[in-house]
Amino acid sequence: MSSPRDVAVLVGSLRKGSLNLKLAHALRELAPASLKLEIVPIGELPLYNADLDEDPPPAAWRAFRERIAAADALLFVTPEYNRSVPGVLKNAIDVGSRPYGHSAWAGKPGAVISGSPGAIGGFGANHHLRQSLVFLDVRPLQQPEAYVGGAHKLFDEEGRLTNDDTRKFLQAFMDAFAAWVEKQLAA
Ligand code: FNR
Repeated sequence: MSSPRDVAVLVGSLRKGSLNLKLAHALRELAPASLKLEIVPIGELPLYNADLDEDPPPAAWRAFRERIAAADALLFVTPEYNRSVPGVLKNAIDVGSRPYGHSAWAGKPGAVISGSPGAIGGFGANHHLRQSLVFLDVRPLQQPEAYVGGAHKLFDEEGRLTNDDTRKFLQAFMDAFAAWVEKQLAA
């Protein structure tokens, strides 16, 4: 078998106890062998400021851009803040999109999943994120859509998934994502 596809995972929460981080870990375990998921830290990226994007830009920006550029595919796992994308994730997207004409995101297959204790599972964040991805020419999986509501009831103390229906759904999501990645990379 050829080596697994390198999937950069962006988690839109910095909390140690983040439900979305738990979701990302669950997705990593459920991923088929054709995908290798790695969470790329975004919490230490300086806020985007074009004045800093001179030669040399901040080292953390350079390392992040290189990591994203090297990835075969992207998986966004995010909470919703005030019906939109948390600032920390939007900042990472902005940092990766510059300097102008050298976006690290362009052309990559991706997927978006949002998790919230609320009933609508971060729908607003999920779709605001998709709006940026359209502009950045990331190709996100369309179906199944993934809005994980009631996320505070889905994990045990160790962060393991406890809900079988959710596990089945996440498995189907990852299988569809893996197929999507292969289709896009073959195109
Ligand atoms: C939230 N939360 C929230 N939830 C939601 O479903 N829709 C929303 O618009 C918001 N808005 C919001 C704003 C801010 C500033 C915070 C801190 C929180 C609640 C949020 O879903 C909850 O705190 C999650 O647990 C955050 O995700 P992590 O950190 O657990 O991954």
